[in-house]
Amino acid sequence: MSLKINNLFKDVKGKTILRNISLEVGQGDFVSIVGPSGSGKTTLLNIIAFISRQSSGEYLFNGADNQALFENSDDLSNCRGTIGIMSSISDLIPNLNIKENILLPSYINRDLVVTDLYYENLVHKLNIANMQEARPYSLSSGEKQRVLLCRAMILQPIMLVADEPTSNLDQENAVNIFNMMADLNEQRKTTIIMATHDKKIYESTRKVFKIRDGSID
Ligand SMILES: Nc1ncnc2c1ncn2[C@@H]1O[C@H](COP(=O)(O)OP(=O)(O)O)[C@@H](O)[C@H]1O
Ligand SMILES: [Mg+2]
Repeated sequence: MSLKINNLFKDVKGKTILRNISLEVGQGDFVSIVGPSGSGKTTLLNIIAFISRQSSGEYLFNGADNQALFENSDDLSNCRGTIGIMSSISDLIPNLNIKENILLPSYINRDLVVTDLYYENLVHKLNIANMQEARPYSLSSGEKQRVLLCRAMILQPIMLVADEPTSNLDQENAVNIFNMMADLNEQRKTTIIMATHDKKIYESTRKVFKIRDGSID
């Protein structure tokens, strides 16, 4: 997998939120995007995850131009099916149990089959096997983040996009979820792009992009 962004800008309502962003991410990279609140991290991740589009500039995902993908709904959904997303916009559904929540992407994307073996391995690896029948409200913040990570990984994505995955966690749980992401990156070679402002966390990733006022330093 390869990701290349060249001279990307995003304007919203006359305001420039991302300016002249260029970056490259390769297969198996574990990348942090760091910067203060309001600096544009979520806006950039949403473009990377094909949730929104830039105003100008280029974003190539495996050589494919994202603006062209948005013109073809089949191509776009195929592409989205290869990406796992962990963010506040993908919260757990309260009236589904944990197992149903984790498997939700496979109900929506019916072309992709989740084997029982893969599912069982993943819930054990993420230490959530004992809560599959529970409802989301009964879980702690750390458990919820592990379930969100599990759901993001359930379709075996080639890339995981995580927006502040440790922001609501105490240090122990933050390190725990980071270590689980690092293991998935190491073992499955899943490319990970994570926004965070937690120094202890981003210092451990191999590549760090610092963003301020919409520009990369
Ligand atoms: N849809 C939108 N409409 C107006 N302003 C927006 C919108 N999305 C983001 N912004 C603004 O863009 C800036 C960057 O936001 P965001 O990407 O959420 O930053 P971060 O994730 O780093 O906190 C902020 O000033 C925010 O208010
Ligand atoms: Mg944000």
